[in-house]
Amino acid sequence: MNVKLSGAARRVCDARRIAKSVGSAIVKSAGSENWEIELRRGQAEVELSVYVTDDGIILAVPLTLKPISERSYLTHIPLRSTVASAMGSLLLRHLDELEPGGGGEERGPWLAMDPMCGTATILVELAVTFKFKFLDLMGMDVSVEQLGRARENILKANVGPRLSLSVGDARRRWPLKREVELDGIVCDLPFGLQHGNTEAEVKRNLPAILQSMHGALRSGGILVLLFSAALSPHLKELAQAESSLNWKLLATFPLKLGELHGNIFVFQK
Ligand SMILES: C[S@@+](CC[C@H](N)C(=O)[O-])C[C@H]1O[C@@H](n2cnc3c(N)ncnc32)[C@H](O)[C@@H]1O
Repeated sequence: MNVKLSGAARRVCDARRIAKSVGSAIVKSAGSENWEIELRRGQAEVELSVYVTDDGIILAVPLTLKPISERSYLTHIPLRSTVASAMGSLLLRHLDELEPGGGGEERGPWLAMDPMCGTATILVELAVTFKFKFLDLMGMDVSVEQLGRARENILKANVGPRLSLSVGDARRRWPLKREVELDGIVCDLPFGLQHGNTEAEVKRNLPAILQSMHGALRSGGILVLLFSAALSPHLKELAQAESSLNWKLLATFPLKLGELHGNIFVFQK
């Protein structure tokens, strides 16, 4: 059995106690008298996953031993593909609620950008899953090495023509054509030491990054942002400041990334 806790459940629940109670309930239930407990990972015939979130309890039986985050079409996967996919579908769902079916004939497909795209996991997930039906995609990163990895991912997934990349600094004005306004921004902001940023640096850079996002996004556009739980109050304070950005918070999803806790925020400009 595999028990995961997220959000407030982390403070009030004990994963081991949950595993014990669910296990003994199964053992006591009719029909399971001959079941044997197998503790070696990958050896049990049936594995149960219990996921306790703020919204409810999810019980699942994995159908394969392979992690569902594996992707045959990606070489580099620094952000778990399931998280990338969730971020992409949140963006599309919220855009679709505003304008069902895309920007319409006159405006053409929606335009979305990841301004700190790294290896472009989120953009490739969006492109593969939704086949660009309603979407043109752009990726930007300050690091040429990361953009090289992004190009390898895009090539392997064969999603080139409508996914363009550019080098640029998300803290400055982005290299967009003057008339271009984005419908959506999706971004896994750097918040750890993995990209050489200290917490103080991340905090110092955040106002300029959010201002640039604000400048590039059309009014009513959607932002899906992943950020560390520790720095989330700072992000929310800046994003919702009435005197500057004044973005509307549409939803928050707490999640765990390895040992780090984070949040996916959905805002509307
Ligand atoms: C958390 S990673 C994004 C990872 C990405 N989601 C992926 O799957 O590869 C953050 C990225 O932000 C980039 N970055 C850091 N500071 C930046 C800045 N000022 N402007 C643009 N990109 C920046 C880093 O080079 C890194 O690739």
